[in-house]
Amino acid sequence: MSDDLIFRAGRTAVITGAASGIGLAAARRCAAAGMTVVMTDIADDLASAASGTAALGGRVEAQRLDVTDFAAVQALQQDVFRRHGDVALLMNNAGRSVPSQPFGALDAWRKTFDVNFWGVVHGVQAFTQAMVDQGAPARIVNTGSKQGITNPPGNPAYNATKAAVKSLTESLQHGLRNIEGGQVTAHLLIPGFTYTGMIKAWIPKKPPSAWTAEQVVEEMVRALAAGDFYILCPDNETPREIDAARMAWNADDIARNRPALSRWHPDYAAAFADYMAKG
Ligand SMILES: NC(=O)c1ccc[n+]([C@@H]2O[C@H](COP(=O)([O-])OP(=O)(O)OC[C@H]3O[C@@H](n4cnc5c(N)ncnc54)[C@H](O)[C@@H]3O)[C@@H](O)[C@H]2O)c1
Repeated sequence: MSDDLIFRAGRTAVITGAASGIGLAAARRCAAAGMTVVMTDIADDLASAASGTAALGGRVEAQRLDVTDFAAVQALQQDVFRRHGDVALLMNNAGRSVPSQPFGALDAWRKTFDVNFWGVVHGVQAFTQAMVDQGAPARIVNTGSKQGITNPPGNPAYNATKAAVKSLTESLQHGLRNIEGGQVTAHLLIPGFTYTGMIKAWIPKKPPSAWTAEQVVEEMVRALAAGDFYILCPDNETPREIDAARMAWNADDIARNRPALSRWHPDYAAAFADYMAKG
């Protein structure tokens, strides 16, 4: 099942971070549906990714775009609307992971926020009003992460960017649903562990636990057709029920006045294990 108002010939998709991974898989899915697909990225292999995608169908364009550059994102919006008059799907998906610590390494915080958060803000700011005004159904999908919800220790800057994307996207959808007659909806894509360029950089072979980018995109297409806001993807080791339990534990830290990130606190190890075992 797919959202036939969106994934069909004559409609346009704009995807950031489309040279690799989830963005590339989404571009390929849109091309196979016959859409006009504007693939954007800063990667050198964008052109070859686009020519491979074009072989699947649709009309595929490659546009070099750095999502940290708001003027460039605005220029892309104007160019796309001038030539196609329509954006059915905007995927603010470009992302990066730079090793960070809770304090120190300020540069890592700035670099990660520039792409993962400001890149999404730029896409939302540049495209949303025009998508509302076009008067046709449209979807804005922002790529978040489970790390932005459960906040595991390891890469705090990355987690914080994805928490901010969750917050922004929830507010965006609240604003959109209050527009009378509005036909644009926003959605938070929450991939599980997905074997993409980002992961290949440190794990050369796909681990059995990871999903493919294509699996994430099929789940996104299914969830959009169902009208889901939170597109929570499992992977091959973490089913939805486990994610839900971990997220509920995390949210309960405040309600129960537990220490920060109690899931990883030695005093709470037994309680957390017991909670997960009870399901
Ligand atoms: N792979 C996972 O397990 C996983 C899990 C949760 C969330 N995500 C998120 O999914 C999204 C896609 O990542 P992926 O896993 O497909 O990784 P990927 O590295 O394969 O793709 C990310 C793409 O973003 C592009 N990019 C980076 N900086 C950019 C910039 N300034 N402007 C434009 N493009 C830029 C990269 O060149 C790359 O092609 C990211 O937002 C990532 O944080 C991934």
